[in-house]
Amino acid sequence: MSIVEYRAGLEGVPATQSAISFVDGRQGLLEYRGIRIEELAAHSTFLETAYLLIWGELPNQKELESFEREIRSHRRIKYRIRDMMKCFPESGHPMDALQASAAALGLFYSRRDLHNPAYVRAAVVRLLAKIPTMVAAFQLMRKGNDPVQPRDDLGYAANFLYMLSEREPSPLAARIFDVCLTLHAEHTINASTFSAMVTASTFTDPYAVIASAVGTLAGPLHGGANEEVLDMLEEIGSVENVHPYLERALDQKSRIMGFGHRVYKVKDPRATILQQLVEQLFQEFGHDSYYDVAMALERAVEEKLAHKGIYPNVDYYSGLVYRKLGIPKDLFTPIFAIARVAGWLAHWREQIYENRIFRPTQIYTGLHECPYVPITERQMNGAQFSTAEYSS
Ligand code: SDX
Repeated sequence: MSIVEYRAGLEGVPATQSAISFVDGRQGLLEYRGIRIEELAAHSTFLETAYLLIWGELPNQKELESFEREIRSHRRIKYRIRDMMKCFPESGHPMDALQASAAALGLFYSRRDLHNPAYVRAAVVRLLAKIPTMVAAFQLMRKGNDPVQPRDDLGYAANFLYMLSEREPSPLAARIFDVCLTLHAEHTINASTFSAMVTASTFTDPYAVIASAVGTLAGPLHGGANEEVLDMLEEIGSVENVHPYLERALDQKSRIMGFGHRVYKVKDPRATILQQLVEQLFQEFGHDSYYDVAMALERAVEEKLAHKGIYPNVDYYSGLVYRKLGIPKDLFTPIFAIARVAGWLAHWREQIYENRIFRPTQIYTGLHECPYVPITERQMNGAQFSTAEYSS
């Protein structure tokens, strides 16, 4: 078999055939199962969208009600997982807590029956239902409080916001949060979805698949960017500081968080919708000056980098929505994960039904036929460094 040309980061290399979502990076177009993201954001809900992504069509009223009922009845987590989370350090990042607890779910559901639709549905329901509970539980426990039980009388988004703050959100806040989950649910073969697919292709359990994807999403070049954007806006502080900040960043060849995308070479359509959501929140919760900084930075980056196709991506405005909802910054990426579980599960299901284990090749750049040198004859050649600063 001839080696296909090597492309760093597999840029432009198809890793699968998929019918789940479609992105046109030049047009700024995103479709889930053929439906435009703008339509789903305006008319659907996250759970209905999750059903569409995973099973390939919109549920009828009965199917949706049954799916919602199943999710509600599986929101609680095992007390052993809660007790495990109580041992996590408060200083730990919530994405690490989520990855550990998602993997721990597999301890309770270890039987693998991947080609049984009932097993697949049970795993889908458990993960969609329990991931928000685990994120909220860690939030309350790291503050020294007992986690609260999910409320079966609240919808998916409202229940998460309630579990996070112990206060019932306003209908507007719940609706806007639900739209954010829909916007973040799926995005073709991004890094964390690719992780999920590679892990799924070995026929391991779905909990390991999701834990693998969570670890990948956590990186600042991927889902972790939404938290970094808020750090950046706080560092800039005011509209007057935007140009000096940008000049310095570009001089240092730094990446501007929340900008750029491997596929979009125009503004990410999700960023546009998120901007509308944050403006809606201003009517209920008041203006946020960081939004003025963000818009000024967007204009300034466009002047400097539009020629490279660098525009805001999904992570640029999402943090401002969550901040307006009173959500702590380091929960922004776990919220991205709560939503993306739907897309990861859709690709998991698609992968296991048309599977071939991922095993790419490489272009070898190392040596051959090297001798084994006895330790007494070896020169000191490794870089000498101290790990003292990291061995706390
Ligand atoms: C997500 O894949 C997905 O779909 C992901 C996602 C999803 O829904 O799953 O959309 C979610 O991860 C969004 C991206 C969030 N990350 C960030 O906002 C971090 C900042 N962005 C960059 O690190 C970067 O844009 C990436 C990682 C997103 C994409 O990197 P690429 O495609 O590998 O681009 P590149 O590094 O090859 O850069 C191409 C050029 C370079 O300039 P030159 O060296 O050619 O002169 O564009 C420049 C880069 O320097 N560039 C940037 C930039 N991003 C790219 N310059 C300044 N700031 C940036 N943010």
